Amino acid sequence: MSQPCVRLFKAGVLVVTSALLVAISMAQPSAEPFDGTQGGQAPAAAPVTFTKDVAPIFQRSCQQCHQPNSIGPMSLVTYAETRPWARSIRSKVVAGEMPPYRYDRNVGIQHLKDDLRLSEKEIQTIAKWVDSGAPQGNPADMPPPVTFDNPNEWAFEKQFGPPDIIVKTKPFTLPARGQDVWWRPIVPTGLDKNRCIKAVSVKPTVKGRAAAHHANTEFVEFDEKTGNYVETERVSEYALGKAGEIVPPDGCRTMPANALVRWDVHYYPTGEELKNDVIEMGIWLYPEDHQAKYKQDLKLYLLTMKGGDLEIPPHGTTVTQGFHTFKTPVRIDSFQPHGHFRLVGKTLEIFYPETGKLEMVSSISNWTNNWHTSHIYADDHAPLVPKGAVLVMTGYYDNTANNKGNPDPDQWVGPGSRTADEMSHSWIAVTHLDDAGYERLKAEREAKQKATTNNVAPQRDRQ
Ligand code: HEC
Repeated sequence: MSQPCVRLFKAGVLVVTSALLVAISMAQPSAEPFDGTQGGQAPAAAPVTFTKDVAPIFQRSCQQCHQPNSIGPMSLVTYAETRPWARSIRSKVVAGEMPPYRYDRNVGIQHLKDDLRLSEKEIQTIAKWVDSGAPQGNPADMPPPVTFDNPNEWAFEKQFGPPDIIVKTKPFTLPARGQDVWWRPIVPTGLDKNRCIKAVSVKPTVKGRAAAHHANTEFVEFDEKTGNYVETERVSEYALGKAGEIVPPDGCRTMPANALVRWDVHYYPTGEELKNDVIEMGIWLYPEDHQAKYKQDLKLYLLTMKGGDLEIPPHGTTVTQGFHTFKTPVRIDSFQPHGHFRLVGKTLEIFYPETGKLEMVSSISNWTNNWHTSHIYADDHAPLVPKGAVLVMTGYYDNTANNKGNPDPDQWVGPGSRTADEMSHSWIAVTHLDDAGYERLKAEREAKQKATTNNVAPQRDRQ
């Protein structure tokens, strides 16, 4: 029964996991993306056209970024704008690289909030459309243009009103041309009491949003001893197309009094100078007397190398692994891998010592440093982890020429925060439960599951 647990990752990294896990037999689903080459056998159906079949998908899933003055490099609104990109669209969509939400299908939890991925059916429609010459179809079939939310309005304004606190970056001027730029100002929040965060949302300026690829924020404290600012907790992660995060009402994520926020904005020049750009973060607070049962936090969990630092030789590969156990039962609310150019994949699993079971929670096997996404689990699917269970976090690094994102396979790569160095940690939002809370949440879920299996509600097809 002790069968070695071998995984073949997409980048060609062959990995045998550490001795602890070797004895565990597990079914490892394939992480291969849908390749879009099958399915040509369907009976002669109506032709797939832009106006009837493709435009509605683009309106739902692409145009927020691919419209004039947004972050996408081209507009995908009209047929004329779209047609020259047909080949590139097919390849990006089939590879699961666009929309930019990298998360493996059919592996681990598939119920996520703000999941940008297309369904397999939508991918097939786009592939078929391109394969049949990317025809326009009948102009009368074109759906009316969509109007997008006013980008000046806060994401949760309709629900919660304007934010209680707005934290701004210091103004930044981005030249018209050049390399990626990181802007990391530290700013005060002005809050004078500890409070519980209800929601967080980041809003770039309308002019700046084409250049602001992502913006992360964390609380920092000044360390008198070292003279440095040290991060205490992550606040939020922003990428265009994402509203923000709401902290579940049973949890309190503390916003500390007199907190300082450090921004980490990734700008990319757009060809036009951006003057004095300011990005804002809105924070909504629960009332002062908010009776949250549990503490929620969003922290960094390290994946370390056995007995050493993260080092990757030229043309080499490596694996990092980290383990974490909690003193109480917990609920995992979100998962965001972190790494740079040599990282190719990351997984989060749960190991149950009592049964020897290892369960896959999330797997990203086509990581790119271009997009840092926090994967937020849907309310009824956020993993409930019993006391004593172990979070198993694994990172896969590829410094060979097989890794498309690798700028230079001849380099030795060590640990560090420059993108040319590597890092190995994940940001995980955790609600710290007690035994009674854990049992109650589990029972509530089981009851709901029973109710749905009894009246078999069709689910949106994400397969
Ligand atoms: C959240 C914003 C966002 C969404 C949603 C999005 N894109 Fe993109 N797309 C980008 C950005 C930014 C780039 C350029 C950087 C990159 O490739 O990561 C890009 C690049 C591309 C490219 C490559 C262009 C080139 O230079 O070759 C294609 C093709 C593409 N997107 C198609 C799509 C399609 C089709 C959809 C919807 C099914 C989509 N994108 C959804 C932001 C987005």
